[in-house]
Amino acid sequence: MRSKNILLIGASGGIGTKLATMFTQDNLILHYHNHNPNKPGYSVAADIADYGAVESMVKDILDRFERIDVLINASGISIDGFVHKFSPEAWRKVVEVNLIGSFNVIRAVLPSMRANHYGRIITLSSVVFQRPMMGTSAYSASKAALVGLTRTVAIENASMGITCNCVALGYYDAGILYQIPPEAREEIRGAIPQKRFGEIEEIYRTIQYIIDTEYLTGQVISVNGGLYMS
Ligand SMILES: NC(=O)c1ccc[n+]([C@@H]2O[C@H](COP(=O)([O-])OP(=O)(O)OC[C@H]3O[C@@H](n4cnc5c(N)ncnc54)[C@H](OP(=O)(O)O)[C@@H]3O)[C@@H](O)[C@H]2O)c1
Repeated sequence: MRSKNILLIGASGGIGTKLATMFTQDNLILHYHNHNPNKPGYSVAADIADYGAVESMVKDILDRFERIDVLINASGISIDGFVHKFSPEAWRKVVEVNLIGSFNVIRAVLPSMRANHYGRIITLSSVVFQRPMMGTSAYSASKAALVGLTRTVAIENASMGITCNCVALGYYDAGILYQIPPEAREEIRGAIPQKRFGEIEEIYRTIQYIIDTEYLTGQVISVNGGLYMS
C-alpha cells in the first residue's frame, strides 16, 4: 500500500512528540508553534488560531508533497479557572486555539482532500467534556464543540472519500497532564477504573484504526481506561 502523507499538528507537544516516532511507514509532516521538535522529516510552523498562517502552511506542504492524506490535530491548550473569576481574554484564547484552530486547519486541508477523493481527519478531544472537572470550562467547552465540528465535516464530505472523527482522550502520561499538581494527578489516577494513565501507543493504535476504517465517520471514540462510558 502507498505510504501516506500525514500532517501532524502539534508534533512538538507531549503527545505529538511521541506519536511522531510511531508512524514509521508514512511521510510525516511535523507542525509546531513555538517549539521546533528538530526531528528528522519536514517541519512547518504556524499559529493555528491565525487562518492566514495556516493557509500558507498548507500551501507550502501541498507545493512540496502534492497531497495530505491524513490530518491529525494534536494541538491544544488548557487555561483553568473558576468561571466567576475567569479572564474573558484567557477564555477566548482557549477557544481560539482549540476550536477555531481546529476549524482553520480542517478548512485549509479540505479542498485538496476533496480534489483527491480521499482524506482522514482526526482531532484529539478530551474526556473532560464528558466528565466535568472544576476549573475547566473553557477547555471543556472547546473540546465539546469539536464534536459538532467533526460530525458536520463528516456528513459534508462523506461522499468524497473523507472521514472525520474525534478521539476523546482520558488522561495520558504526557504534556497537559503535567499542568496538574502531583496530588491532583494521583487523585485522577485513582478515579480511573484501570488505575493507570493511558499510553501514547494506545492513541497511535486508535488513529491507525480510524485511518484503516472507511466506514467509521462522525464518531467520538473515547479511549480513557473506563473513566467515562457513553
Ligand atoms: N495529555 C493528556 O492527558 C491529554 C488528555 C486529553 C486530551 N489531550 C489533548 O491532546 C492534545 C495534545 O496534548 P498534549 O498533552 O500533548 O499537550 P502539550 O504537551 O501542552 O502540547 C500542546 C501542543 O499544542 C501546540 N500549540 C499550542 N498553542 C498553539 C497554537 N496557537 N497554534 C498551534 N499549535 C499550538 C504546542 O506547540 P508548541 O509547543 O510548538 O508551541 C504543542 O505542540 C491536546 O489537544 C490536548 O487537549 C491531552
